Amino acid sequence: MELNSELLLVEIADRIATVTINRPDKRNALNNQVLDELRVVFEDLQEDDDAGGIVLTGSGEKAFAAGADIAELQNLKKKGGERASGKGQAVMSVIESTGKPVIAAVEGYALGGGCELALACHLRVASRSARFGLPELGLGLMPGYGGTQRLPRLIGKGRALEMILDGTPIDAETAWNYGLVNRVVDEGRALETSITWLKHIINRAPVAIKMAIQSVHAAYPNRAHGFHDEARLFGYLCGTEDSTEGTTAFLEKRKPGFRNK
Ligand code: COA
Repeated sequence: MELNSELLLVEIADRIATVTINRPDKRNALNNQVLDELRVVFEDLQEDDDAGGIVLTGSGEKAFAAGADIAELQNLKKKGGERASGKGQAVMSVIESTGKPVIAAVEGYALGGGCELALACHLRVASRSARFGLPELGLGLMPGYGGTQRLPRLIGKGRALEMILDGTPIDAETAWNYGLVNRVVDEGRALETSITWLKHIINRAPVAIKMAIQSVHAAYPNRAHGFHDEARLFGYLCGTEDSTEGTTAFLEKRKPGFRNK
């Protein structure tokens, strides 16, 4: 696949690969092209001996990523919604199963699919400006990139349901208290801190790192059923009038009026 270097920037220095989502004018929203490129880049970096670890970040100070691209969700309907969720889940799984440590460096908003993307990384460094949230229910949708499966495992069912049902983004300190992020740093320092931390981590034995990541993931077997259900339910919601109304209202910058019961 031909990479559109404008959308995803990849740089390798001192065995650290930095992958930057570069759509700052759309708050780094994950459109299909970004998802496709993330998949290719992570598969390539997995094989690249020059890269010992990966930092994933967003361009600009406003957002890590503000979720799936709402314009692309607007007219999906049921089958299209199921497919879109399955595709997002697959990309997140490629990132999660990378045999090299992956750190999300979060400045600003990590919302919806952007929050789910951070959850798929092995570690998360947040700046004090970071805001984590799952606003999908306000669009007539639900998290569909593995968030309903990964978030409860990371922070517990009660807090996960709080974030999903309430939808109000939490700040970096709350995210740290919840165990959602590993480190909180001053504004503008997330990338630099992630790189320094990763340099320490990748000095340890590479094969041991890979086996340890694999072994920790083995603690969560049989996830296929949960992911399958998430995609099916996301697809169901894409078939409702409320999701059309919710996504359209966002793009038209107005409040939605939901009608489905
Ligand atoms: N999908 C598509 N476009 C998005 C987007 C998304 N998830 N998030 C932001 N954008 C676009 C906006 O439509 C706007 O486009 P425009 O300039 O053409 O009007 C641009 O990015 C800037 O967004 P704006 O809302 O003006 O920026 P802000 O700094 O005031 O607010 C957010 C930032 C992240 C709080 C806000 O954009 C937001 O709530 N985004 C949606 C989050 C969401 O619901 N994600 C879940 C998706 S399933």
